[in-house]
Amino acid sequence: MPEPSRKVAQVIPAIETLEGAGFVVRRPFPRPGLDQIDPFLLIDHMGPVDHAPGAAKGAPDHPHRGFETVSYILEGELEHKDSVGNHGVLGPGDVQWMTAGAGVVHSEMPSLRMQREGGRLHGFQIWVNLPRADKMVPPRYQEIAAQRIPRVEREGVVVRVIAGQALDTVGAVETHTPILYLHVTLDPGARVELDAAAELNAVVYVISGEGRFGPDRVEAEESDLVVFHHDGARAALAADDTASGPLDVLVLAGRPLGEPLARYGPFVMNTRSELVEAVEDFQAGRMGRIGVA
Ligand code: CO
Repeated sequence: MPEPSRKVAQVIPAIETLEGAGFVVRRPFPRPGLDQIDPFLLIDHMGPVDHAPGAAKGAPDHPHRGFETVSYILEGELEHKDSVGNHGVLGPGDVQWMTAGAGVVHSEMPSLRMQREGGRLHGFQIWVNLPRADKMVPPRYQEIAAQRIPRVEREGVVVRVIAGQALDTVGAVETHTPILYLHVTLDPGARVELDAAAELNAVVYVISGEGRFGPDRVEAEESDLVVFHHDGARAALAADDTASGPLDVLVLAGRPLGEPLARYGPFVMNTRSELVEAVEDFQAGRMGRIGVA
C-alpha cells in the first residue's frame, strides 16, 4: 500500500510588509496568530521587483543569533558580508544557508552592480530555528552554487533539491534537524507526490501560477501558503491544466522542535533572559563587526 496523501489543513495568503532599509516582501508568516510553523520561523518573498538605477535597497549591518537564515535567489544579485569575514555574491539559483548560531553580524544588499545599474530582484529568505542544544554553535556558511543543487526532471515536473530528499535525490545542504527544502516547477496539468513523513510539519508556498493540493485538490495561487495535515506521509501538488503558465512553488517540511520560543527581532532563543543576553552581547560588540574579523 502506498502511504496516504496528506490533506490540506489551511491556505494562508501572504501579507505585504517592509523589511530591511525599506523593501517590500510578501510574508505568509510570522503574523498575528501565526508565530511560526515549527521549525520554520519566517518566509519572506522578495520581489520580483524592477529597481531603477540607484534605487535597490537591502538590509545593511544587523545581527542574528539562535537560528539559520536561508537565502535563495531566482533573479538578480545579492551581496553578503559578515563579521566572521565571509563575503560573496549570490546569483540566480544560488543558495546561502547561514547558521547564525552564537551570533553573527551581516549585511545583505543588492550587489554594487545592481545598485548602480538597477535590475530585477527576486528571491526568498526563510528562517530555520535551531534546537536549544545547537543555538550557540559557531556560525557557519554553506554557499551552494546553482549548478551544485541537484535537479530532477520527470513528466512535466522539475524538482531542485536544496535540502532533504525527493524523488530518490539527496539535497546539497547539511541541516541540524531533518529539513526538506525544494523548489518545484510544474507544467500545466502536471502533478507530483513528494515524500513528507507524517511527523514533519509540511507547507507549500506558491511563487507563481495556480495549483491544487492534497487529495481533495484544494486550490491555491500566487502568494498563498498551503499547510498540510499530519494524516499521511506524502504531499500532492498539481498544476491547473487550464493555466497559461507553470506552477512554481517552494516545498518546506521539518521536524517540529517543540521547544519554548522567545523571539525579538533578529534573535530567536528559548527564554526571555536569553534574549536580553543576546541584545547585551550584540551591543557590547561580542557578535563582532563587519570588516574587523
Ligand atoms: Co539577516
